[in-house]
Amino acid sequence: MSAAMQRNDRVRRLPPEVNRVLYVRNLPFSMSAEELYALFGKYGAIRQIRVGNSKDTRGTAYIVYEDIFDAKTAVDHLSGFNVQNRYLIILYYNSTRHKTKVGLKDQEAELRRMQEKHGVDGEQHATKKK
Ligand code: ADE
Repeated sequence: MSAAMQRNDRVRRLPPEVNRVLYVRNLPFSMSAEELYALFGKYGAIRQIRVGNSKDTRGTAYIVYEDIFDAKTAVDHLSGFNVQNRYLIILYYNSTRHKTKVGLKDQEAELRRMQEKHGVDGEQHATKKK
């Protein structure tokens, strides 16, 4: 069997949620992308890091590894890791959960627009216009 086939077999044996992209929560707001590269880079080459900088995404980051096994090693080593008195929460990227969150944000923005325009809340009760 070729090396590529052996690797493919190892990848197929991983739990289905394992992938090269990690979703990190509970980061100190002061932690920079450079500090994240230094910490997560210990477990393998990183393709990309995106740090949340909006009100809703601060304290979170997406870490993209080149190799799925390095992503898994990082999860196994850094889940619950203490950094600046916080404990890191590390999940594998999940497109369904990602979309759910975006959907919620859109709904909240739409509700705010309705309140501005019509002075009603989501259940059509009159609210005071500011
Ligand atoms: N939002 C909440 N949980 C998530 C996850 N696991 N991956 C991507 N976005 C998320």
